[in-house]
Amino acid sequence: MENEIRDIRHSFEEEMKNVTDAKTTEEMRIKYLGRKGLISGLMGKLPSVNEDERPSAGKELNILKTYIQKELERKKNELLSGEAKKGEKIDVTMPGILPEEGRLHPITKTLNEINDIFVSLGFKIAEGPEIEKEFYNFEALNIPPEHPSRDAFDTFYIKNDVLLRSHTSTVQIRIMEKTQPPIQAIMPGKVYRPDAVDASHSFMFHQVEGLLVDKDVKFSDLKGVLSLFTKRMFGEKTKTRFRPSFFPFTEPSAEVDISCIICRGKGCRVCSHTRWLEILGAGMVNPRVFEAVGYSPNKYTGFAFGMGVERIAMLKYGIDDIRLFFENDVRFLKQF
Ligand code: PHE
Repeated sequence: MENEIRDIRHSFEEEMKNVTDAKTTEEMRIKYLGRKGLISGLMGKLPSVNEDERPSAGKELNILKTYIQKELERKKNELLSGEAKKGEKIDVTMPGILPEEGRLHPITKTLNEINDIFVSLGFKIAEGPEIEKEFYNFEALNIPPEHPSRDAFDTFYIKNDVLLRSHTSTVQIRIMEKTQPPIQAIMPGKVYRPDAVDASHSFMFHQVEGLLVDKDVKFSDLKGVLSLFTKRMFGEKTKTRFRPSFFPFTEPSAEVDISCIICRGKGCRVCSHTRWLEILGAGMVNPRVFEAVGYSPNKYTGFAFGMGVERIAMLKYGIDDIRLFFENDVRFLKQF
């Protein structure tokens, strides 16, 4: 039996060398795999093979059968594609198939733009974890335990002392812990707050914070950097206004407004007829923050600022609902 199997394989291989068309391929199939073909002939003989050789003979025979099936199939496909090529003419008038085109998300585009402006001013980009400890989100930033934003309602807690960061100021602390001044970095990333979702609130949004620490850093440096940023981001004519404000981690602190880019100072619905739009928070780093990371407040000063990327993108592109960014509606995303 084993010899016969070997012979059939051999003759099949030899004959296949001369097969060049579909008709002969089919004849080969009938000859080898047909109901009265060589393989089923041998199958019929199996019962007469002596008992201890029978299992291995059966196995060999099956292997041969599968091999022949595969070879014939391969030949058939080969011949088919060959024929297709022979008859092929290129129809130059046929419309092409447009590949699906992807594009950057408007938030990514805005983030890239913000990053580019600060990188061109010498800032490095730094990132940190979205899951944080209270120390980085609060304590080191001079937000004491009784501060209202520590309340569980204003922060997503995962468990005691572990939370989703509510601002990227956490990364300021992480950088200062590891490096000595001078420091000049921006910190882009996602932040989380348990706000009810509406046209201007989302439980997750993006921030870019900035930090510059060195000897003799002044408020005027902060004003210079931010005025330059707003002009590059919103156009040369954009005016910047600093309003006194409060943040625990900066002193003094300011809220920064730009002249309304929609009405250019005439008063409109977007600026609620105030002619100004608030775009970020900023200030001089509170000496307490320096103490928390082991810097000497007598030696160093610095400034920090933070902005919401969604807000900037909404103003820049005239989008009136923050939810549009996260609904994945291609009709919306296609416009950018
Ligand atoms: N961390 C502040 C916020 O999330 C923004 C800010 C950063 C303000 C740095 C001042 C300085 O609202």
